[in-house]
Amino acid sequence: MHTFSVNGKQISTDLDKSLLRFLRENLNLYGTKDGCSEGACGTCTVIIDGKAVKACLAKTSKLEGKNITTIEGLSQREEEIYGYCFAKAGAVQCGFCTPGMILAAKSLIDVNNDPSPEEVKKAIRGNICRCTGYVKIEEAILECARFFRENLEISKENVEAKLGNRFIRPDAIKKALGRGVFTDDIYMEGMLHLKVLRSAYPRAKVIKIDLTKALNHPKCVKIATADDVPENKLGHLVHDWDVLIKQGDMTRYIGDGIAIVAATEIDALDEILSLIDIEYEVFPAITDVHEAMKEDTPHIHENGNILQVEHIKRGDVDEALKNSAHVVRNIYKTPYTEHAFMEVECSVAFPQGDGVKLYTSSQSIYDDQREVARMLKLPLEKIEVEAALVGGGFGGKEDMSVQHHAALMAYLTQKPVKLHLSRQESLMVHPKRHPMEMDITTACDENGKITAMRAEIIANTGAYASLGGPVLQRACTHASGPYNYQNIDIIGKAVYTNNVPGGAFRGFGVTQSCFAIEANLNLLAKEAGMDPFEFKYKNALRVGDTMPNGQITAEDCGIVECMDAARSLYYSNPGKIGFANSFKNSGIGVGFPDSGRCILSIEDSIVHIRTSAACMGQGIATMATQMLGETCDIDNDKILVEPPNTTRTPNSGCSTASRQTAFTGEAIKRAAEKLNKALETNTLEELEGQEFFGEFTFYSDPITSEKEHPISHLAYSYAIQLVELNEDGKLKKVTAISDVGTPVNLTTLEGQVEGGVVMGLGYGLKEDFDTYGGYLKVKYGTLGLFRSVEVPEIDVQFVTGPGKSKYSYGAKGIGELSTIATAPACQMAYELYDGIFRKELPLGGTPYKRKKEPK
Ligand code: FES
Ligand code: FES
Repeated sequence: MHTFSVNGKQISTDLDKSLLRFLRENLNLYGTKDGCSEGACGTCTVIIDGKAVKACLAKTSKLEGKNITTIEGLSQREEEIYGYCFAKAGAVQCGFCTPGMILAAKSLIDVNNDPSPEEVKKAIRGNICRCTGYVKIEEAILECARFFRENLEISKENVEAKLGNRFIRPDAIKKALGRGVFTDDIYMEGMLHLKVLRSAYPRAKVIKIDLTKALNHPKCVKIATADDVPENKLGHLVHDWDVLIKQGDMTRYIGDGIAIVAATEIDALDEILSLIDIEYEVFPAITDVHEAMKEDTPHIHENGNILQVEHIKRGDVDEALKNSAHVVRNIYKTPYTEHAFMEVECSVAFPQGDGVKLYTSSQSIYDDQREVARMLKLPLEKIEVEAALVGGGFGGKEDMSVQHHAALMAYLTQKPVKLHLSRQESLMVHPKRHPMEMDITTACDENGKITAMRAEIIANTGAYASLGGPVLQRACTHASGPYNYQNIDIIGKAVYTNNVPGGAFRGFGVTQSCFAIEANLNLLAKEAGMDPFEFKYKNALRVGDTMPNGQITAEDCGIVECMDAARSLYYSNPGKIGFANSFKNSGIGVGFPDSGRCILSIEDSIVHIRTSAACMGQGIATMATQMLGETCDIDNDKILVEPPNTTRTPNSGCSTASRQTAFTGEAIKRAAEKLNKALETNTLEELEGQEFFGEFTFYSDPITSEKEHPISHLAYSYAIQLVELNEDGKLKKVTAISDVGTPVNLTTLEGQVEGGVVMGLGYGLKEDFDTYGGYLKVKYGTLGLFRSVEVPEIDVQFVTGPGKSKYSYGAKGIGELSTIATAPACQMAYELYDGIFRKELPLGGTPYKRKKEPK
């Protein structure tokens, strides 16, 4: 028997298991989060005898006589201060890391209530935050220390929910104090636990599946194979992804599922899985895109190894290149990268009527509903999907990963089930940012005016299509950069291999092509004898210019304003500061009708904002509340943002393509205008039971449009980022200046940029998702994620273009933009530092990646 105290209560147990699991499974203390169970992320931080400890590494058998404090054990005063300061500073985005951060902070403040910023950074160095870039967390901790030190009272401020105000996120305190419910925090009576048997090889024929021994295990309730799946092919755009690989079929990557086990106890799952006998015929994996494209290479999918080809052509590139004074050509390469969201994928499902209800942590409940209904061959309305809190996504939670498997097993067993991936499975299963090879040629005349660009972009899209087509397309459509020229010839190819699939990831292809175009233009500027800043300024898009895709530059374009704001800094230390420009579309565009939808319903005199827009941490509730608040004068405590649910919230599309502020924002505005009209003659009480619907659909032109000036996208956001290094080549400061139109919430915007910059620094300098022959060579702890102590000063500024977009009060997307320019700005900074022009990410030969020499 082991006896210890948890939050002041004596606990005795015979169990010998990780403290994390004991807290969650045996004491129902769900505030301590499981981000990896490997000691690598810090989400499980608790305090043991005054020290911050990772609960996943502590065993109950080793805790005799210890005093353990979890987030639930904070005093009321501590709850008030940590909750308030974290929420106020904007330190809580997805919130999955926050309880652990708070306990790491408490372990410092309890012994030192006047810490330096360096001491704060050190205290949280073991805690990863993938959303915030740590800046606001550190501010919050310093503020907490001040509140304790000076014994300050929490002020009851009531910030109006108007645009531009630093309105506090409605869900922040709940998340900070560990009371927010993520999918893994949901437990149901009699719930079965699931685990998926995955392919042992990236490319093999499944000759035989023998379940006999496994089914005889006393804890085994059901094992599903492809034979149990009504419709076995899924995929948001291309139906090429097997729910489970069937006996006789080929596997395509190591994340492929072959069987799903349902057991009464979680601890029995591995043993049952080990009893399943699979006979394989193993084939060499095809992992290289060039090999995959050869004619005699076996096909990974029926229709061959090319998923999609894009060709974007305007003007006459051959002629323009022939007549150009300067031409520069180079080949650039970017790697796979992992989203590393803090909450691994989890779904809970249970039978409901003759269908299924599903709790998910994905980026679109309606995509989940459609895919699950398709798989089960059931009408849509038989599948109800509700979103729990989402602990980060960044594009990595758009595809089916666990949702379909959980729904299938709930349907087959007629019991509630939970499927929670291990961190290693998560790395193995969900699509990554595509590696790309980009052959770029750019040219200019003798005055430094860009004349033409030719590009060939090859994306390794891995085993399944996922969003590989649109990612490739966006890489191509943005490969020109935010510059004014009209001769482009861009060919893109997305190629299937036996690697983990490539899919959506913050930046959606533009992170890759921006790196290539910005670096190539720097060389071109040099050829033309110009400073890159003047060169790019001269060519930057101005209102009324024709963009390389033919769209007329709208009056909200602010790239010149971004550069104007950056000019004095750039020239303050000539030849030492790297910079890059970027732009990113708001909304899916290129011919796909794109809709935002919202219902405002008056229930018990509260205005319920009902929209399916998923918040992965970016702040949908804040945006929605402020869009409503800007339009109607309603007290904050009369507004409630509902969680996405397919029976309550209308379909507002996926949280992708930086679209929710522009699309759902405009839909909320439209619904709010109707409510406002009604409020002219009625009180809120008199409107009880009424609903006000807002919808906004934008029809853009396809890439193949014959129009002289097609409209590819509703709007674009623009940015410049500047990177300064110290004498020793380490990062000193990043300045990020963005045009996102009307700021909805400055605190949220700053947080998005700080987090995006740190993610961009990771992409540029450290992160690599190493694979060999289709197998992973990484764990969460070796991904190279930035930690608090490595993050430089980040200066965030916002500007606007001469005019505004006419939708959503002129607000545009920030989510992806903030990550795109960072890597190319680092590339330039290191070239200025050591004279080496690097063509590959992550950059080699820097203090962050010493071993890998630049090519
Ligand atoms: S869950 Fe313990 S460190 Fe990640
Ligand atoms: S807020 Fe830190 S991981 Fe999301």
